Amino acid sequence: MKTIGVLTSGGDAPGMNAAIRAVVRTAIFKGMKVYGIRRGYNGLINGDIREMDLKSVGEILHRGGTILNTARSEIFKTEEGLKKAVTVINVFGIEGLVVIGGDGSFRGARDLSALGVPTVGIPGTIDNDIPCTDYTIGFDTAVNTVLDAINKIRDTVSSHERTNIIEVMGRRHGDIAIYTGLAGGAEGILIPEMPLDIDNLCRRIIEGRNRGKSSSIIILAEGAGKALELEKIIEQKTGMETRATVLGYIQRGGSPTAADIILASRMGYHAVELLEKNIGNRVVCIRDNKITDCDINEALSMESRFDKELFELAQILSI
Ligand code: F6P
Repeated sequence: MKTIGVLTSGGDAPGMNAAIRAVVRTAIFKGMKVYGIRRGYNGLINGDIREMDLKSVGEILHRGGTILNTARSEIFKTEEGLKKAVTVINVFGIEGLVVIGGDGSFRGARDLSALGVPTVGIPGTIDNDIPCTDYTIGFDTAVNTVLDAINKIRDTVSSHERTNIIEVMGRRHGDIAIYTGLAGGAEGILIPEMPLDIDNLCRRIIEGRNRGKSSSIIILAEGAGKALELEKIIEQKTGMETRATVLGYIQRGGSPTAADIILASRMGYHAVELLEKNIGNRVVCIRDNKITDCDINEALSMESRFDKELFELAQILSI
């Protein structure tokens, strides 16, 4: 393979730039030409494509977001859109593609591979919801951002002797809530993987108060409920003043942590190594701290991973 392309797609995640840098610099190191495709699959369809050189990825390692921009492309999901994309790929002489994104982006990568364009996915999403990999790029940064917020909220919550319910991202997956709940000593963690049991949560808050706990922090994954709705219910059931905080998009921004930069760099390198060998339809993953890869179809059909042990540990320790 002499010419490859790289794009970012779906929700952005800190560390995506480090992955782009790794793809571009590894490809050039291996004597390949590399094109940057802007605005995800939309850019592919519209030919929003430029050749990248070593300098084009300079000074981006520490920056959140993605220099290639990103989008959730609806047109690419149609047969017409997919065909257009393949035409543009052929016009530019692109022989293989690296797609940095989440599961929606990998479905597109699978479709391109099926049409004869070897495509490799790199998991970049703060949600850590790609079951074939232990970690996705951006997750560690998001966890640290949320932890910082929890620690700040803890100050005011304990001063006022209140309960604060903090809503974090995670539509179908509760990893952000579990990891930050454990690291932030949250008194309760509500995730989409477990049935929402408000009475049990309120009982824990009341029991804690009876033991002398004057304030509580509850972490709620957005897929499990709405903090602004639960605020009133918890206040009414526990009799404790309750406030809600929705952290929102702050979780997707900021400088990536060293862990995310290193993960992205290792994954970017591995993706190019695969394409160099003409191998496509793969997702790069990290398992037991080793970089490896798996079939995209397999990755997309795997059952969602839920770390019940970690979840229970958080509950035990926050008593
Ligand atoms: O990146 C994943 C994620 O942050 C989800 O947790 C969230 O629900 C979603 O993206 C929202 O993204 P957008 O509003 O950009 O579509």
